[in-house]
Amino acid sequence: KHCFKRSSDGFLYCEDVKVQDVIESVEKRPFYLYSKPQITRNFEAYREALEGLNSIVGYAIKANNNLKILEHLRELGCGAVLVSGNELRLALRAGFDPKKCIFNGNGKLLEELVIAAQEGVFVNVDSEFDLDNIIAASRISGHRVNILLRINPDVDPQVHPYVATGNKNSKFGIRNEKLQWFLDAVKAHPNELKLAGAHCHLGSTITKVDIFRDAAAVMVKYIDEIRAQGFDIDYLNIGGGLGIDYYHTGAVLPSPRDLIDTVRDLVTSRGLNLIIEPGRSLIANTCCLVNHVTGVKTNGTKNFIVVDGSMAELIRPSLYGAYQHIELVSPAQPDAEISTFDVVGPVCESADFLGKDRELRTPARGAGLVVHDAGAYCMSMASTYNLKMRPPEYWVEEDGSVAKIRHGETFEDHLRFFEFL
Ligand code: LLP
Repeated sequence: KHCFKRSSDGFLYCEDVKVQDVIESVEKRPFYLYSKPQITRNFEAYREALEGLNSIVGYAIKANNNLKILEHLRELGCGAVLVSGNELRLALRAGFDPKKCIFNGNGKLLEELVIAAQEGVFVNVDSEFDLDNIIAASRISGHRVNILLRINPDVDPQVHPYVATGNKNSKFGIRNEKLQWFLDAVKAHPNELKLAGAHCHLGSTITKVDIFRDAAAVMVKYIDEIRAQGFDIDYLNIGGGLGIDYYHTGAVLPSPRDLIDTVRDLVTSRGLNLIIEPGRSLIANTCCLVNHVTGVKTNGTKNFIVVDGSMAELIRPSLYGAYQHIELVSPAQPDAEISTFDVVGPVCESADFLGKDRELRTPARGAGLVVHDAGAYCMSMASTYNLKMRPPEYWVEEDGSVAKIRHGETFEDHLRFFEFL
C-alpha cells in the first residue's frame, strides 16, 4: 500500500485525504506533506524482514531530521545514525536509546566525540586521527567507547559518484591494508576502547542486493580475521543505501526483506548482531513537496511550468540530476493540452529545476503540483537561497487529520540573525 494515489475522482490523495483540500486549508506557499502511516509501514517492512535476527535499525537522520518524525520512528523501535554533534543532540532530544545510536563520519570533532562517549553511543572509526580523538574523548569523559571499524570494502555500488562511498578512492573509512594498525591501536587502549564490530557503507540509491551481499561477504571475512586475534566482536553494520522507485514505473525493486535475506546466512552463521542504517528507504516515499503553479510560459521551443517551489526547497534534481516524479494534484480541465514541460522554480539561475521534459497537461495558474519521494534529502538539504524561506511540514495522521509538524521559516526569522547589530 502506498500513501499517495490518484483516486477515481481524478484527485491525488495522501492516505484518505485529498491533497487539494490540504492546499486550500494551509498557507499559500510550498510545503511538505507526509503520511505518518507510511512511515510506520516502511519501518514495519524492516522489522518484519529482520525477524529472527538480533538487530538494530539505525535511521540515518541526515535524510530527514524533523523532530516529530524522529520521535515517531523512535517510538516504533528505531535507533539513529548520526553524522554531527547536532544530529547527536537532536537524537537524544527525540529520546533515542543511545545503545541504538551510531555516530559516523570522517571529520568528527573532539567535542562531538566527548558527547558521544558520555552518552554511550557506538562510534565508527574512520581514520588514524579519528581514533586518536576517540581515545582523547574517552579520557575526557571517563567512559570506555564502543567502537566499530569502518572498513572500506572496495565494492562498486553502481550509483552516482556523489553518493558512492564504498569504493577505493572514497574519503570514508579505513583501507584494509591498514586494518592491523587499527587492531594494534585498540589492543593498546583497553581502558578507552571496546571493539564492538565492523562497519561499511557502500553508497546510496543502490538497487541491486547482490552488491550488499558482496560487501557483507568481504566484511565477515574481516570479522573472522579480527576474531582470530582474540577480539570479542559481534556487530556487523552494513550501512544504508537501499534505493527506491523514483521513476514510478512500477519496476520491482529490492525490498528490505530482499536486502536482509541476502546477508542473513552470513550473519547467523557467525552469531553476529546486524546493524543497518537506512535513510531513504524509510522516509523518501512518505512525502511530496506540494507547489503552486505560478504560470506557464514558452521560450523558443521549450515550455516551462513555473512553480513556487525550487532548488532551495528540493535540490536533488539540480545537484545530482536526480529524477523525482511530478504530477498535478487535481484533474486537469478537459481542454488542457498535454505538452512537454520543464518544471522550474523562481530562483535566479538555470540550475533551478525540479524536473525536465515532463509530459503534463497544461495546468491553470494556482494549480497544485507535487514532486514525489521528497521525504529524504529534500527538506534536510533545503537552503534559503534567494531568501526563499524553508517550507512548513505537515503530516496526515492515522485518523485522517492533518497536523503541522514544523513551522515554515519566515522573513522575521531571518531578521533575527541581525538583532544584535
Ligand atoms: N549510513 C551512512 C554511513 C551514510 O553515509 C548514509 C548516507 C546512510 C547510512 C543512509 O543512506 P540511505 O539509506 O539514505 O541511502 N544527498 C544524497 C544522499 C547522500 C547519502 C549520504 N549517506 C541524495 O539526495 O541522494
